[in-house]
Amino acid sequence: MKTIKLGLLGMGVVGSGVVKLIEKNRADITRRLGADLIITKVAVRDLTKPRSVSLPEGVVTDDPYAVINDPDIDIVIEVMGGDEPARSLILQAIAAEKHVVTANKHLLALHGDEIYAACESKNVALGFEASVAGAVPVVRAIRDGFSGNRIESVYGIINGTCNYILTRMAEDGSSFEQALMEAQQLGFAEADPTFDVEGIDTAHKIAILASLAYQTGVDFHQIHVEGITGVGPEDIEAAKEFGYVIKLLAVARRQDDRLEIHVNPAMIPVEDQIASVGGAMNAVELNCGMGGINTLVGPGAGEGPTSSAIMADVVEIARHAILGDGYPMPPMGAPIHAVSPTPIIPMDQLVTCYYLRFQVADQPGVMARIAGALGECNISIATMYQNGRQRKANKPVSVMMTTHTACEADVKRALDILIKSNILLAPTTLIRMEGGE
Ligand code: NDP
Ligand code: HSE
Repeated sequence: MKTIKLGLLGMGVVGSGVVKLIEKNRADITRRLGADLIITKVAVRDLTKPRSVSLPEGVVTDDPYAVINDPDIDIVIEVMGGDEPARSLILQAIAAEKHVVTANKHLLALHGDEIYAACESKNVALGFEASVAGAVPVVRAIRDGFSGNRIESVYGIINGTCNYILTRMAEDGSSFEQALMEAQQLGFAEADPTFDVEGIDTAHKIAILASLAYQTGVDFHQIHVEGITGVGPEDIEAAKEFGYVIKLLAVARRQDDRLEIHVNPAMIPVEDQIASVGGAMNAVELNCGMGGINTLVGPGAGEGPTSSAIMADVVEIARHAILGDGYPMPPMGAPIHAVSPTPIIPMDQLVTCYYLRFQVADQPGVMARIAGALGECNISIATMYQNGRQRKANKPVSVMMTTHTACEADVKRALDILIKSNILLAPTTLIRMEGGE
């Protein structure tokens, strides 16, 4: 029986999942491959930490270079996360002509070009299905399944932690802090959960998907990114009143030869297909032109779903690159020299509907001044809602409004007018809305 030797960089949530999955499904994987998978070396940071898996003596090391310098290892699985030393270790593994599988979206969003080019020049494979949407095979769908199409948009929920938090807040009235703690305990969150709740992880993922879908380099720093820390229970309640749910949405749409790309909390009509996708589930809607609109839904984070995606790459690479027919596929699905940057549309030019929550004193004339500022900036109000009960508590009141479609620059102008008018008692919450007119 042939053997394929694996080296792991990291054995935390995802790395432990990989070890467990190989043990659990060894017989099936061996049958599919006609070869046995052997975990030869695993690097961790702290050798004294308790682990949920055990490996033979001598396999676990605290020296990551022992993994990439081991001449027997065929495939390096990088599940340590972060920028350095992951970037240098991956580049060194590629230089040593090892195939690499990674779940590290942070690294690919910032240094993908360099890593893709290195793989091409050494003719080695890079698997990164696990970097976006957990078990959902969205990288394969874009790169292989729809490779004959012109993809027009990629849209969806691609952070399990934020979706879990927003679902718990909406369905059970949990606090943000409680829901985040649960997401961390369940292994969904990043080592630094700021990356989740501030939208950065989602931006890493949409940068990867957009670059695959549009065969373009995406300058990560040009992506407009907002997280969910400004979304309060009042906004979630108001969304229900208006017939919407709030999700952290990633959007990458072609508009002629430019790209609309942003990450922000958004109100989605309850009847929309992805509105009911809750918990740590992810959903990616691909508008594939002649291939139609396809929505992929599945578990987007955690030990099991992520290790499932890692193993899909390991099996594919082992089948092609090691056992037989070479590996012709460049990581991006097109040679890196054929990839060129696409200009990104400034956020001020976005045209959509808006939800605005103003905090004001409940006094005569206040509503008229808000409506006046919006009108002055060509913004038409669609609905309005005020929680009158707050007045009894002698507190500032929240006034929630939704608008018809408006240009983001006009909305910003109206908010500036209101800030200068001194009627606002706290910063205004702005949430973009999908599906309005
Ligand atoms: P963890 O923090 O649970 O695990 C990281 C592992 O890497 C640990 O075993 C840690 O060692 C090891 N490590 C970190 N730095 C070093 C270093 N310098 N040298 C040696 N070992 C090191 O993270 P996750 O498993 O959750 O995530 C891993 C990667 O997978 C990240 O890129 C993440 O973004 C990505 N990912 C995570 C998902 C999830 O649901 N958790 C889903 C999809 C992708 P030690 O254990 O000793 O601390
Ligand atoms: N922290 C990420 C999430 C892990 O919650 O989606 C999966 O990429």
